[in-house]
Amino acid sequence: MMEPIRVVVTGAAGQIAYSLLYIIAKGDVFGPDQPLILHLLDIPPMMGVLEGVVMELADCAFPLLKEVVATAEPDVAFKDVSSAFLVGAMPRKQGMERRDLLAANVKIFKVQGEALDKNAKKDVKVLVVGNPANTNALICSKYAPSIPKQNFTAMTRLDQNRAQAQVAAKLGVPVADVSNVIIWGNHSSTQFPDASHAFAYVNGVKKSIPEALKDDMWLGNTFVESVQKRGAAVINARKMSSAMSAAKAAGDHMRNWFQGTEVGQFVSMGVLSDGSYGVPKDIVFSFPVEIQNKTWKIIPNLAISDFARKMLDTTAKELEEERAEALEIIGA
Ligand code: NAI
Repeated sequence: MMEPIRVVVTGAAGQIAYSLLYIIAKGDVFGPDQPLILHLLDIPPMMGVLEGVVMELADCAFPLLKEVVATAEPDVAFKDVSSAFLVGAMPRKQGMERRDLLAANVKIFKVQGEALDKNAKKDVKVLVVGNPANTNALICSKYAPSIPKQNFTAMTRLDQNRAQAQVAAKLGVPVADVSNVIIWGNHSSTQFPDASHAFAYVNGVKKSIPEALKDDMWLGNTFVESVQKRGAAVINARKMSSAMSAAKAAGDHMRNWFQGTEVGQFVSMGVLSDGSYGVPKDIVFSFPVEIQNKTWKIIPNLAISDFARKMLDTTAKELEEERAEALEIIGA
């Protein structure tokens, strides 16, 4: 029997966590043999709701779930954790300016960075889901200097999954037969969904997506826009933001990080830029990566068209602006 690992989910009383906790506790992320101790963090007013989540986790009778720690104390929540899903964040309220949202969240991710630094295992893998996810991840890592910067990532997997699903639907093939769609940049409306390096199996034959679709207008316009605006479309229809799909994506991201990617396949993750593809350093930017031995590596040498160059520069600029605002807010 393997030793249990400790996994923290913040925003544990919220709607993404409600789906995510099920996926984790069932064994879909860390494997069917890995016992777990779940740490659930939320804010004091949500402790009653969180108690209900704890009851439901018990009632699920998950064989892998050895213990649940529910708390409003970051120091307790982050103690000895090997994996952290930072889902909790201040939501955008009506009339709230982007800067107010950033200010509220920068403070949350500063506190959580400090608590990770003090309490978590030094090889903890951190996934930031709460928005603005890329900049929150950057701030979090700055306040956790004893943990390697590569261990802080932001989620663009939902955008990747959305993009993959749209390409599959357009081609009329199963979604699992489409690979290597890339999300570049920020998890925001400036992100660049790029299918030019992707491929699919069409009637058993491997084809590049541009070759299989033969519709560059669609790939450069409708596709890009519909992925960028998919979150808003879900809110319009559901009157609530994406939750089930966000939870599935968070599980996919962490599963690949712990268990690796398949040979020849890459996935998109917001990671600290090392200057690859002419992207400025010191922003958390979504790149295509492959993962082995729990270590991600940016896929090098992909051809970047003039169109792609413009899109990469636009989303990088937005991230530089967010970083400048965030650093100003915390007085760094
Ligand atoms: P929600 O509002 O249902 O839940 C958020 C939870 O976080 C609440 O229970 C709240 O009390 C808690 N929380 C707030 N501040 C906290 C703190 N300092 N410490 C711990 N918990 C705290 O929101 P939902 O739908 O679960 O979404 C969570 C976040 O994920 C939002 O910021 C949302 O914008 C973001 N998101 C990101 C996506 C991505 O692709 N990166 C996709 C979808 C959502």
